[in-house]
Amino acid sequence: MLLQTVELQKVYSTNIISVTALTNVNLTVQEGEFVAIMGPSGSGKSTLMNILGCLDRPTAGQYILAGEDISNKNDNELARIRNQYIGFIFQSFNLLPKLTALENVCLPLVYRGVPTKERIMKAEVALEAVGLADRMHHLPTELSGGQQQRAAIARALAGNPPLILGDEPTGNLDSRSGQEVMEIFQSLNQQGITIILVTHDEQIARQTKRILRFIDGMMQSDEAVTPIQATASLSQDPTKLSSDEEELKKAVSE
Ligand SMILES: Nc1ncnc2c1ncn2[C@@H]1O[C@H](COP(=O)(O)OP(=O)(O)OP(=O)(O)O)[C@@H](O)[C@H]1O
Ligand SMILES: [Mg+2]
Repeated sequence: MLLQTVELQKVYSTNIISVTALTNVNLTVQEGEFVAIMGPSGSGKSTLMNILGCLDRPTAGQYILAGEDISNKNDNELARIRNQYIGFIFQSFNLLPKLTALENVCLPLVYRGVPTKERIMKAEVALEAVGLADRMHHLPTELSGGQQQRAAIARALAGNPPLILGDEPTGNLDSRSGQEVMEIFQSLNQQGITIILVTHDEQIARQTKRILRFIDGMMQSDEAVTPIQATASLSQDPTKLSSDEEELKKAVSE
């Protein structure tokens, strides 16, 4: 088990008003899963992602990541855990505009204390993995939306995190660039990386292996996506189907 939430709750309070964004969310995600989170605007998806990504804390309940209860950690401890376990991808890419793609990807490695040569090497490998080898020295403004998001994925990947979280990572992309990003996620997931992403797009969600639906801060449904649907768009290779079925069987028997 990679992560678990137990009766997770989040209430945003100001002096005047309090908003319950999550109510009693019980969720378990195993290593190697590929999960889509869906639900109407305001249903608590980003709130949940921020807690799973150690960017925020629940107001009640527990969040256990890699066996560690992190519900009540302080900011420094959360930052350490985030660094070690999580690559976070945002809808709006969040690249630093004055840094090249390569420098953007290097940045989290600077915070981790990785020496210069090694971090350039790691960043180059990550950029190659997302098909941006020939755009490394470009600024974000010199890249298309899809390329910027791929650079952001490379940044999330550079530290080899076991868990990738994306809050509407294809939300600002046209369907072709969105599909390219999904193909990168598919291949990362096949390499064993656990992926959880928020999407409003049923076609995107159908390419994952499991769909969770939220309404008013509560999890309404938890559905396995069948392997045929999951691989429909890239199934020229029939061996892909059988290997996916095997993965699914493994996931079910765990
Ligand atoms: N910082 C905050 N302070 C107060 N209320 C907040 C805060 N962040 C979110 N909320 C409220 O919590 C609820 C859940 O918000 P959240 O951003 O998680 O929704 P979402 O499902 O991600 O929606 P969208 O699809 O529009 O991104 C909403 O009612 C929202 O107004
Ligand atoms: Mg949101």
